[in-house]
Amino acid sequence: MKARPPVTDWATDFDHMHQDWTQDPYPIWQDLRQRCPVAHTDRFEGAYLPVRYADIREIAYDPAHFSSRRIVIRDERLPLVSFPPITSDPPDHRAQRAVLLPLFTPAAMAPHEAAIRRICRGLVDRFADKGTCDGAADYAQEITVAVTAMLLGISSDDGDLFRRWLNDLLVVGTDDPALVMRTHGEMAGFFMKEIALRRANPGQDIISRLLEARIDEAPLDDAQLVGMVRLLLIAGIDTTWSALGSCLLHLATHADDRRRLVADPSLMPTAIEELLRAYSPVSIAREIVADTEVGGCPFKAGQMVLLSFAAANRDPEAFPDADKVVLDRAENRHAAFGLGIHRCIGSHLARLEMTIALEEWLARIPEFSLAPDAIVTWSAGAVRGPRQLPLVF
Ligand code: HEM
Repeated sequence: MKARPPVTDWATDFDHMHQDWTQDPYPIWQDLRQRCPVAHTDRFEGAYLPVRYADIREIAYDPAHFSSRRIVIRDERLPLVSFPPITSDPPDHRAQRAVLLPLFTPAAMAPHEAAIRRICRGLVDRFADKGTCDGAADYAQEITVAVTAMLLGISSDDGDLFRRWLNDLLVVGTDDPALVMRTHGEMAGFFMKEIALRRANPGQDIISRLLEARIDEAPLDDAQLVGMVRLLLIAGIDTTWSALGSCLLHLATHADDRRRLVADPSLMPTAIEELLRAYSPVSIAREIVADTEVGGCPFKAGQMVLLSFAAANRDPEAFPDADKVVLDRAENRHAAFGLGIHRCIGSHLARLEMTIALEEWLARIPEFSLAPDAIVTWSAGAVRGPRQLPLVF
């Protein structure tokens, strides 16, 4: 990705790909909430940025004006590419979502718990005695690649390839349309081969299960199958990697919270929700398909709108002490997994991975902190999380 031009005013020229946002977006949202809760930019061929929970919620619940057919904000609009159900609107969306829902229920995820624990334990074994590791690169990303590959029945040896695809689609591709289209094609080729293998020799994995799925009594066609599997790869890796990396960063830099969690593991469920709220990784977009008004602001058809669920989760109107992490926060209806009809299907899996990953880490490494002079880097774009996180213990 090329260097982004400086932002003149976040209210009228916002750029969520700019490094000021990527490194520390919280002061930007706080400032906008006070003086311009729906920001706009002429970049990206025109886009809006609401930062209040109530406005983000209203838009997420209004697919008639805010379509999901484009969910990534890029410098220029590309041909539509389908990743059902996330890029679908009503009425098609419901049946496509119904195909995936049963594959990701808590009951469907529970049998994978032992394997996820084995993966986490194996990774901790690699560095626990060394006194140092990169919490994002050596732990968080390895877990989510291995777990996603396991569920799809593909080899995690291709982890580097998966990460390149994600980076090319969501980061570098923001200003490189040819790269995005090439990556879509590469992923389609890869998954068509996997689908052919499963047709010949089905197993228990999610690709095999999708071959059994029916919409209106008909099997999914190749385009639907490839689209769904590509989505699961993209949705499953970057997101949980980012959320888990942020958990580790928080615990490395907040000794009180870390010691409290180690001393009282019963806090884990509320702690996970609170860390998801405070460091939500996903900001996804909608294309405005009919003029409308939200929060007293006009939204013009043809432009994009960025739904920063992370900004919603820091809104003090919705969460008292929104910028404070409270591990036992009782009321926490956060938006990290989205709001409305597209709410995350993989939330149970993400919570399971995060819980096991933190349990296994804290059991072996209860005391840790950022390495002296550590430089923490963050991913830019739709999914924000630490990518370089040097820790010592
Ligand atoms: C902490 C980790 C995760 C976060 C923060 C997250 C966040 C989100 C968000 C915000 C949405 C809504 C998108 C929208 O409104 O357009 C979403 C949708 C979705 N997520 Fe996740 N996600 C996570 C993990 C996962 C995992 C592990 C999977 C599965 C492998 C997954 C699969 C999906 C799918 C399939 C959708 C689309 C649902 C629909 O369109 O109906 N996610 N996710």
